[in-house]
Amino acid sequence: MKKVVLAYSGGLDTSCSVQWLRGRNYDVICFIADLGQEEDFVKIEKRALSGGASKVYIKDLRQEFVEDFIFPALKANAIYEGKYLLATALGRPLIAKYLVDVAHKEKAKAVAHGCSGKGNDQVRFEVTTQILDPELEIIAPLRIWEFKSREEEIEYALSKKIPIEVTKKKPYSIDKNLWGVSIESGILENPCRKPPEDCYQWTNSPEHAPSKPVYIEIEFEKGIPKKINGKIYNGIELLKKLNRIGREFGIGRSDLIENRLVGIKSREIYEAPAGTILYLAHKELESLVLDRELSHYKEGVSLKYSELIYYGLWYSPLRIALDKFIAETQKNVTGLVKLKLYKGNCIVSGRKSPYSLYRQGLATYSKGDTFDQRLAQGFIKIFGMPYQNQKSRVSRKSGNQK
Ligand code: ARG
Repeated sequence: MKKVVLAYSGGLDTSCSVQWLRGRNYDVICFIADLGQEEDFVKIEKRALSGGASKVYIKDLRQEFVEDFIFPALKANAIYEGKYLLATALGRPLIAKYLVDVAHKEKAKAVAHGCSGKGNDQVRFEVTTQILDPELEIIAPLRIWEFKSREEEIEYALSKKIPIEVTKKKPYSIDKNLWGVSIESGILENPCRKPPEDCYQWTNSPEHAPSKPVYIEIEFEKGIPKKINGKIYNGIELLKKLNRIGREFGIGRSDLIENRLVGIKSREIYEAPAGTILYLAHKELESLVLDRELSHYKEGVSLKYSELIYYGLWYSPLRIALDKFIAETQKNVTGLVKLKLYKGNCIVSGRKSPYSLYRQGLATYSKGDTFDQRLAQGFIKIFGMPYQNQKSRVSRKSGNQK
């Protein structure tokens, strides 16, 4: 029997994939990555084994995920199409890295994933696999199997007695990790329909969030969040803590019609409580310590960086080079941001940094003004000069025509 290592989550697609690969005479080894999705891994392992897997690997990748994927994305202010903090997209290259690793350990010649042929995740898994080991064969059961719909797949799972949690009523496809949740399918496919409350996995609805706000303080060192309310946390604990508070206050829901890499527009619901709080806090601190040119230039870099993550090009030379640039920009991103969380809103209420470029003496309209306003006249004359010349060119030209 040929060995294949399958990236396994315990969900509908990967559970059916185990069965399907077994039916094609593969020895299926399941690889489960712990990215902080807080699932019952014992239950998932059992599900894999009872579904026909010969062996299961479970690996806790949370620390690597936070330090080498989430925090670099945070430093870059990575967000896709203004609403998606890229939780799923960031997880895929890391899962693929270890999928390749397990394949090598097991001397397997093939890897498999449970992604469809219409999404971005197939690209992320496969491009990463190709970069890390171009020799490996990649099998994507969903692209070739006989089921025409998710409903048919559910039928198949039921007929094969594969324990699944999706039902025909709640056919959501859900992906979770420490950075957030992605939810799609079912009723959500109608972009005009309000997402039903039962699609949200983590967050309280803003209506049900506490009626009194809470204030939190986050401290960063060189762009990395280190403390909440003065207390030091490691990366994993910090995200868990912010997710807990954010969920209660209904923070970080978004509803996006997104442009997939394969050209399809799709609708996805996201929840990223910790991500939303940190993204906002980090940008606030940057606005205090980065000079205008660097700050504006970095916005363009963020956009490109986000696309690279979304397109599955994490291990590309450009992403790696941009990381060096971003690291340089974070030298002074040290300081504190105060935020108010209230019914789905995360609102900045203050910021400070030892590297602040804000000078009250220059900004003030009150006593203690150190800005010499007389200099402004000359500055504006020279600043506007090129445009005056333009005006005289127009009148010269129309004069010539007469
Ligand atoms: N649209 C998101 C992305 O491309 C999430 C994909 C996975 N979504 C899901 N519900 N399983 O990154």
